[in-house]
Amino acid sequence: MSRSEVLNHFARFVSMVALATLLAPAGALAADAAAGKAAYTTNCVSCHGETGKGDGPVGQILQPPPRDFSLGDFKIDADEDGTAGTDADLKAVISKGAAAFGGNQMMAAWGSVLSDEDVDNVVAYIRTLKQ
Ligand code: HEC
Repeated sequence: MSRSEVLNHFARFVSMVALATLLAPAGALAADAAAGKAAYTTNCVSCHGETGKGDGPVGQILQPPPRDFSLGDFKIDADEDGTAGTDADLKAVISKGAAAFGGNQMMAAWGSVLSDEDVDNVVAYIRTLKQ
């Protein structure tokens, strides 16, 4: 490849990156369910289970049982806007723990373990578990 060809390729690459940046949604990057799966597998699977049914090894012995994500039916209206289970509600429960909103303390606060972005990603992943 000649020098000008290399430069040409480079210029095309740079303009593609610029285009991708322009096309990216404004504001926060979209949540990444694949990254969320990794965080879920590390931190949540023991209770909520592989498929989210609340049947992980620890989850099986808990009372109340962990929420069954395959139903997509949530209980806590953390921001008290009249609708339980919005992204904002799930984020708050995961970050601050269910007990902060009248739920069970077995659903601990993960805000010191997971970054804000991790929590967004894990919420995106939980949404994929609904059957
Ligand atoms: C030690 C077991 C345990 C672990 C680990 C755990 N949970 Fe939970 N989780 C629970 C239990 C129990 C409940 C039900 C709480 C209740 O009914 O008050 C629950 C409820 C929830 C809810 C339901 C909120 C609603 O409005 O219905 C969400 C969302 C949730 N957990 C997410 C997570 C995420 C994400 C993780 C990992 C970062 C996680 N949990 C880790 C036990 C656990």
